[in-house]
Amino acid sequence: MNNGTGGTDQQSETRWKEEEYFYPSKEFTAQANLNDKTVFERFTLDKFPDYYAGFADMLTWFKPWDKVFDASDAPCWKWFTGGTLNASFNCIDRHLAKDANKTAIHFVPELEEEKTEHITYQELYVRVNEFAALLRDTAKLKRGDRVTIHLPMVAEAPIAMLACARLGLVHTVVFGGFSANACADRIVDSGSRVLITMDAYYRSGKLIDHKGVDDEACALAAENGQKVDTVLVWQRYPGKYSSAAPLVPDRDIIVGDELKKYYGVRVPAEEMRSEDPLFLMYTSGTTGKPKGCQHGTGGYMAYVTAMSKYILDIHPEDVYWCTADIGWITGHSFIVYGPLSLGGSSVIYEGVPTYPDAGRNWRIAQDLNVNIFHTAPTAIRSLRKVGPDEPKKYNFKFKLMVTVGEPIEPEVWRWYEKEIGKSQAVIVDTYWQTETGGFLCATVPGIAPMKPGSAGPGVPGIHPAIFDDEANILPPGSNKAGNICIRNPWPGCMQTVWGDRDRFVSSYFGRYSVSSDSKDWRDWPYITGDGGIQTQDGYFRVLGRTDDVINVSGHRLGSKEIEAAAMTVPEIAEAAVVPIAHEIKGAEPELYVSLKPGVAASPEIVKKVADAITFQIGKIAKCRNVWIVPDMPKTRSGKIMRRVLGAISNKGDVGNVMTLANPEIVEEIQKMVNNQK
Ligand code: WT7
Repeated sequence: MNNGTGGTDQQSETRWKEEEYFYPSKEFTAQANLNDKTVFERFTLDKFPDYYAGFADMLTWFKPWDKVFDASDAPCWKWFTGGTLNASFNCIDRHLAKDANKTAIHFVPELEEEKTEHITYQELYVRVNEFAALLRDTAKLKRGDRVTIHLPMVAEAPIAMLACARLGLVHTVVFGGFSANACADRIVDSGSRVLITMDAYYRSGKLIDHKGVDDEACALAAENGQKVDTVLVWQRYPGKYSSAAPLVPDRDIIVGDELKKYYGVRVPAEEMRSEDPLFLMYTSGTTGKPKGCQHGTGGYMAYVTAMSKYILDIHPEDVYWCTADIGWITGHSFIVYGPLSLGGSSVIYEGVPTYPDAGRNWRIAQDLNVNIFHTAPTAIRSLRKVGPDEPKKYNFKFKLMVTVGEPIEPEVWRWYEKEIGKSQAVIVDTYWQTETGGFLCATVPGIAPMKPGSAGPGVPGIHPAIFDDEANILPPGSNKAGNICIRNPWPGCMQTVWGDRDRFVSSYFGRYSVSSDSKDWRDWPYITGDGGIQTQDGYFRVLGRTDDVINVSGHRLGSKEIEAAAMTVPEIAEAAVVPIAHEIKGAEPELYVSLKPGVAASPEIVKKVADAITFQIGKIAKCRNVWIVPDMPKTRSGKIMRRVLGAISNKGDVGNVMTLANPEIVEEIQKMVNNQK
């Protein structure tokens, strides 16, 4: 099993000792949205699927649903069928009667001299409606069309998403840091003819040109058969174009100018069927091609609303800040859809946490009176490194803090609790995935004790279990690692892989499904792709991916995607990626390549490979090193032994290599790697 750093099962199991519990304060529990200790009795498997009806009741439906759960197209489950609703209506319109003047979004620009924008629900309503009118009338988009959104962390991102949702358009948000090529892949796969972008944005004090990337993305998409006929360009400074990339006539439209036509226009929220898709979110898997996870409307909205209420404990008066990027699922579920559906106030910060200094986050928290803070272990590690004494200097108080995206080391957890939480905040370690829409495991904050380094039991409604390779369930406390699976369907789960139902079924159910014709949900346990252990108390400790996915700073990178990028360099014969442990990021990819016969190793080839990866995927996939090796360590059947390469990179034990076809190569590579670092 791959634990993210090339370790073996054995090492993973003994990596952490059992930790002491931490208990939520009485003060927290007294105010918690969920403090009924008997809650799990209402969510036992024998009450599935009806226990999810309460989640749907948190939404406003145009037409009430008739059936909680429909298994007719197993395992593409349908939720709350017969019902109609609109996600944008649930996030905006339904709050207007009581909370029109309440802040929905606090947008914090990176430059401190630019003041925070407080967008009320009324204003969000106006801006979403006017932009929806533009999408409908200028861009000629209609229900069911896909739209690619490539925006930085600005208020226009949720505005664009909610405008799409209002019209029943399926949005595909591409993380701002992806390369033009990665953006093009998503445009092509989703079949988008409209791209929504911005001219520029601030990062580390610099105004970064963003729109140039989109021009390249459109050119690449066109080469692959998908023409983008309309590019909608927001301006970072309205009225002033801040990109060096020229506007393309008949294609590019400056949103601010065009919006003048739509002043005061209101667009009715489309009545969507519960099972209609709301968005696609691409993620890495085992193969070289990212998959478009398709999330539905009713099930997804019900799930993220309930999770925001019960696990994030968002109340109407709270100010909630999640530092994730809107281009990832965390941003979709827990910056935009969940918190706004509850009528909360959500913070969006444009820039980096250390600009202009390590105290920036805490000034934002202090000034906006943030009381719920949501971030990732990689950010916590880096905040600790750059400014361990900063949190003390500012007057903020969090009632609840979230960690997500990768396992958190108990020691880092304790620092988070003591220094950022000031020993007063409850922590929820939320374990989930792009595919799952919302949380799988976490402690219910007002009820359950926390355990550093452990995500906790399944959240109410989710019944996870550790499966061994023969599909036996390993009981809690067995101390054996296995595959984390979910025994029941849940409303937040993706509906399918966009355009590839077979891939959905084989990736997530293939291995343990009992029969491909079964319509019984019990026959379709969901496979997370993570290894884990369940301790006696029912808590799950996630060990890391069991497939070829590397978790870098809480972001998923497919090894196969990086290898495929390296292979685009003509001189390369073979490529193998392994994860290497990193103090802040958790892991980083490291690449080994071998060359075609007759090609000599050179620094130019190393650079070509590195550039190809940045071009194909983006800077986030940058490898620690690119090693040109004379040959890959291989089994006699010719399979590259990534495990051996991983051990070399991490200075671990390579184990017995005598059964390899070329054992001598191992020492040669070891020498090369050890000498040059
Ligand atoms: C993978 C999913 C879901 C939000 C962000 C990442 C790892 C996620 C935890 C956690 C240990 C975690 C898993 C998972 N992961 N949360 N709390 N503890 N590991 O979404 O990019 O789809 O990645 O992230 O390996 O499979 P994603």
